[in-house]
Amino acid sequence: MTSSSQSAEAPHNFRSVKSSQVVLKELMIPSYANFGGKVHGGIILSLMDKIAYTAAATHSRGYCVTASVDSVNFVNSVNVGELVTLMASVNYVGRSSMEVGIKVVSQDFKRGIEKHTNTSYFTMVAIDETTRESIPVPGLILENDKEIERFIWGKFRKQYKLDYKKQFHSMQDDLDMSREKQKLLNENCFVKSPNKSV
Ligand SMILES: CC(C)(COP(=O)(O)OP(=O)(O)OC[C@H]1O[C@@H](n2cnc3c(N)ncnc32)[C@H](O)[C@@H]1OP(=O)(O)O)[C@@H](O)C(=O)NCCC(=O)NCCS
Repeated sequence: MTSSSQSAEAPHNFRSVKSSQVVLKELMIPSYANFGGKVHGGIILSLMDKIAYTAAATHSRGYCVTASVDSVNFVNSVNVGELVTLMASVNYVGRSSMEVGIKVVSQDFKRGIEKHTNTSYFTMVAIDETTRESIPVPGLILENDKEIERFIWGKFRKQYKLDYKKQFHSMQDDLDMSREKQKLLNENCFVKSPNKSV
């Protein structure tokens, strides 16, 4: 069964969104910072991967891998001494994949402000540890409009990524390298040892 929107009772193996929601808080210590005193983006990414795994593994009750990470745009920097809070929720599930939405905020105690750092989406896939093949995950029980809309957006993003992949591969096949080399004259680069064919 893939959908249960009309029935009163959800199938027994389906799980609610809130049953796998996770919150993770971490204080930003000096060893996380770069020379400018700002926290490395990689530290935040690592925390995001950790919370995405926790949410996906809680939903599927099994081992998962990170299949992809949607674009991550940091809209505010994070300073040492701030408390970073990550909130994760399984938005969408397919057969074996789960999209986990993650919101990251940072609290600056000294100035008494909270900043939105970024919102991103991780796709996690449930895996059989012996065969390494993807395996089915339980369906999601959607209990309000917000959860329904997040599920629809997750499905939309999955389709968008598949379409993008197809389009990119066809553009790659059509790429004319000699023509592109000519166009480098207009780019912000200097070709030191040009190939005679350029
Ligand atoms: C992710 C992985 C299991 C997918 O393998 P695959 O052969 O494409 O598996 P399948 O064809 O069975 O697809 C499984 C699901 O993953 C999804 N998927 C596969 N590649 C994906 C990608 N790049 N982005 C998002 N979803 C992806 C598919 O859409 C499918 O979803 P569905 O079952 O909900 O419809 C495999 O590529 C893998 O193991 N990658 C390494 C993961 C890893 O080690 N991550 C940590 C990096 S350090």
